[in-house]
Amino acid sequence: MSNAQFRPINNIEGKTVILTGASRGIGAFIARELAKKQATVICISRSQEGLDKICNEINDLGGKGIGINFNISKVERIPELVYEIKQLTGSFDVDILINNAGIEIYRAFHHYSLKDIQLVLSVNLLAAIELSRLVLPQMLDKASGHIINIASLTGKKGLAYDSIYSASKAGLITWADALKQELANTNIKISNICPESISEQASFADTGISTTLKAAISIPEKVAIAVCYTLENNGVEIVENGNFLTRNITKLKFAFEEHLPRFGDDIKRSLHQPNSQ
Ligand SMILES: NC(=O)c1ccc[n+]([C@@H]2O[C@H](COP(=O)([O-])OP(=O)(O)OC[C@H]3O[C@@H](n4cnc5c(N)ncnc54)[C@H](OP(=O)(O)O)[C@@H]3O)[C@@H](O)[C@H]2O)c1
Repeated sequence: MSNAQFRPINNIEGKTVILTGASRGIGAFIARELAKKQATVICISRSQEGLDKICNEINDLGGKGIGINFNISKVERIPELVYEIKQLTGSFDVDILINNAGIEIYRAFHHYSLKDIQLVLSVNLLAAIELSRLVLPQMLDKASGHIINIASLTGKKGLAYDSIYSASKAGLITWADALKQELANTNIKISNICPESISEQASFADTGISTTLKAAISIPEKVAIAVCYTLENNGVEIVENGNFLTRNITKLKFAFEEHLPRFGDDIKRSLHQPNSQ
């Protein structure tokens, strides 16, 4: 099939979505946005309480919420998750996969243990890749599907004391790029959403890492809207930070950094002053 014939998901209504990390944070905002569009959202997280809460909200908003309590850091057990989805839904018919679950461990690189490194890479990168590998064949069979990764701007320019997380997000972005080329002649789409630090939510807010670029802070509602926009409009990559101006300054900054890495380092350090951890 040629690119010209590509049919984006467009209408989210009635679609079945697997959403990892749905129990709180950005994932819960994405779940609510999908629910408003009457999707069936299969929510994956470890916290049963968080899953019950978000599934109730999804049902109240007009979607259908199905919660599955699963620890995706156990990457070799992800086929069991697929089996559980088949049991719960009666089939394995997934239109959209959103790889959102992610963790960060902030510390000086030489203070990481191998266990810390394996955990961050497993949750943020390997689980997303393995779940996509298992979901893709049925998308190819029906010639329709969309995989979205919640990556990060940290995957485009590394952040001090967050080196393993930065590596995981860079890996996610480059893997998706390679897969996008591989799937170019199919009807399957793969996209990345790259948020800036989220103002009051979760991980970044807890770091204590100061940023002087307050205008470029993102909000979770906008990340959720960016996900639906990408699904409905065949988006490839969305940088989500602040407003039109900060988004375009960021894109320009990346273009400069690509060609002038020393200059890029100076900009990065002037905007994000890392604490010694
Ligand atoms: N917050 C930011 O500033 C920011 C900026 C850019 C990108 N992002 C990315 O956005 C995504 C969501 O981040 P967030 O800020 O919403 O994080 P969060 O509030 O900490 O939520 C993380 C979600 O992932 C789930 N999760 C974590 N480990 C898991 C595991 N082993 N198995 C299954 N589920 C697991 C958590 O559920 P349970 O604990 O219940 O398992 C939770 O639902 C991440 O990929 C993150 O890297 C965040």
